Amino acid sequence: MPPRVLVTRHVYPAAIAILQEAGCVVDYHDSRDGMTPEQLGRRVRHADGLLCQLTDPIPAELLAGADKLQVISQIAVGHDNIDIAAASARRIVVTNTPDVLTEATADLTLALMLAVARRLPEAERFLRAGSWQRWEIDLLCGNDVHGATLGIVGFGRIGRAVARRARGFRMRVLYAARNPAPPEVERELEARQVPLDMLLQRSDYVSLHVPLSPATEHLIGVAQLARMKPTAFLINTARGPVVDERALIAALEEGLLAGAGLDVFEREPAVPAELLALPNVVALPHVGSATVAVRTRMCAIAARDCAAVLTGERPEHPVNPEVLE
Ligand code: GLV
Repeated sequence: MPPRVLVTRHVYPAAIAILQEAGCVVDYHDSRDGMTPEQLGRRVRHADGLLCQLTDPIPAELLAGADKLQVISQIAVGHDNIDIAAASARRIVVTNTPDVLTEATADLTLALMLAVARRLPEAERFLRAGSWQRWEIDLLCGNDVHGATLGIVGFGRIGRAVARRARGFRMRVLYAARNPAPPEVERELEARQVPLDMLLQRSDYVSLHVPLSPATEHLIGVAQLARMKPTAFLINTARGPVVDERALIAALEEGLLAGAGLDVFEREPAVPAELLALPNVVALPHVGSATVAVRTRMCAIAARDCAAVLTGERPEHPVNPEVLE
């Protein structure tokens, strides 16, 4: 029997072609809405492989009914929507798509930083509204990015790619991470590790690059926001729940920080009206890795790893490699 792969929602066609070329039968739910948990539960029972996205919750209860499932391939680097421990307990391999999206996500981080610091969306709204009468000495003045201090929270692939870009802006780079980066990386990126509290106190821009886990949920809350300079900006291209959104709204409303550039939110796609009412917030719909080239490659990488597991080969990007031993 050829292996059967359930594709939970619309993907770039490369993914389907790769699965079919590997001899898989593809059960393709070609919709942007995805499935209800009940629909997903019914269809996953017949699947040997699952190609899913960060909008598909994959809890232990779903896996309990997926007796044939050997592999879950997530088309994203983050995999907080999947119960990895439950998958490992059932010897299901989970794969993700790191590396390919690092540079695009770092590009977007800089774009958000520049957008909020230089008030770009606000300026564009002003122009489109027909409000522009003349050049004025203090019209829509913002803040400098060049030469400022950037605090990077989480210094993995994306955090380091952001640091690399910051050098071009002659920024001072601090980072907070569980483990220090190798000395050659610190030297190359001219980055210095400091405790999180010190990073928050000293940075003009704080940019978040940690994965979401129980340890990082609400890592930035009331106390952390209170430590930031009132002139500082918070940038989040990681995961919404890393920031306590209610605390962020309160801090912005009280002027405890200068603004925020947000690509992710606690309850996507819901974005609190209070955030949208603030002119010093730039809000994007989770588009960190959204270039055609990167998203196409993410689909292909995930499909290749899914097919690899189902044809007895080692996948390139296992999240729980212990299952392969
Ligand atoms: C996007 O947020 C990803 O995790 O790839």
